[in-house]
Amino acid sequence: MQTVSSVLDAISDIGRDTARGGYSRGVHTPAERSLREWFAAEAHARGLAVETDRNGILWAWWDATASRDGALVTGSHLDSVPGGGAYDGPLGVASALAAVDLLRERGVTPQRSLAVTVFPEEEGSRFGVSCLGSRLLTGSIDPDAVRALTDDDGTTFAEASARAGIDPAHLGRDEEAVRRIGDFVELHVEQGRGLIDLDSAIAVGSTMLGHGRWRLSISGQGNHAGTTLMADRADPMIAAAQVVLAVRKLASEQDGARATVGRLTPVPGGTNVIASRVDLWLDVRHEDDAVKAALLERIHGQAQRISAFEGCRATLTEESTSGTVHFDGALRRTLGNSLARSFPGAPTLPTGAGHDAGILAAVAPTAMLFVRNPTGISHSPEEFVEREDADAGAVALADVLEDLL
Ligand code: GLV
Ligand code: MN
Ligand code: MN
Repeated sequence: MQTVSSVLDAISDIGRDTARGGYSRGVHTPAERSLREWFAAEAHARGLAVETDRNGILWAWWDATASRDGALVTGSHLDSVPGGGAYDGPLGVASALAAVDLLRERGVTPQRSLAVTVFPEEEGSRFGVSCLGSRLLTGSIDPDAVRALTDDDGTTFAEASARAGIDPAHLGRDEEAVRRIGDFVELHVEQGRGLIDLDSAIAVGSTMLGHGRWRLSISGQGNHAGTTLMADRADPMIAAAQVVLAVRKLASEQDGARATVGRLTPVPGGTNVIASRVDLWLDVRHEDDAVKAALLERIHGQAQRISAFEGCRATLTEESTSGTVHFDGALRRTLGNSLARSFPGAPTLPTGAGHDAGILAAVAPTAMLFVRNPTGISHSPEEFVEREDADAGAVALADVLEDLL
């Protein structure tokens, strides 16, 4: 087997972000295109048949039977958040390729076809909606709405797809792809400190936390920084600053909730300009969808009161939501049994992050494996995986795939 680290070493220079640190690999950017080409070359080198489906998902097939229906599917994503780490996504893809090597070395003869997949725009960092590829495949998002999504430069998803060679007219629920997913297993770097605390290299995923994204636009009066008296201002930045603090307070008061403002854009954005509008993005998560909705409502109400007090107006728009997902019980038990060979006592672990495995759970049994991250930090250049743990992950994935094939 090629070590997982050596597979990843080949892409360590692609999409480096010299300004922010780490990697910025937005979907359908030159960096992400290079990664997709790298994946196709790695798959071809392993004798896998590579195809791109109508939603831009890459499939690399190890065909075992005449039909691909009900196949065993594994994979992850290659796009990243801005200034992200090297492992969130690519670890799952590289581990899947290494697991194919291991299965071949073990002389495994699959009884059903195996596909290694790469899902586009898992992070939603370019077009705002996470897991776009899997949402399109499963039909859980309106393709018209997706075509119209824009990036920061005003490029639509339809335009970016067309430039990447994907016909935007064909985006949407893909019955053939749905039929082909018999089971889906995604290996992923752990994005918190769960496996550090459990002192284990590997865990089986139990649940994925319900989450959502909303844009809050606060409009005020754009004006001159020097001539406008402090008492005469309707400055949306002042309202936004208070909203950020209110988000922390309200989320801290709700057991198990997480809420974040990680992105904020003043319009037009000038040092000597009082902004006319501030857009800020809310990421709100809770395992109970009703509690999440109630928390969002409290944040919205508070944002409206704060904005009104500052002479401004707040408007909330939903960009995406996903409910809490409990990964398939039977598939989880199979994973636990498979891991008992090389990783006896491997724990189960919930995840606070979002994953394509959570979206695909609507159409097929899905499960996840997590690999220890010794920093406990993710969505940051400090995300890390030790070489031995990465290889342990590939062995765990190969054990699981072998039993499921
Ligand atoms: C992706 O990793 C997310 O949890 O938003
Ligand atoms: Mn991520
Ligand atoms: Mn990820």
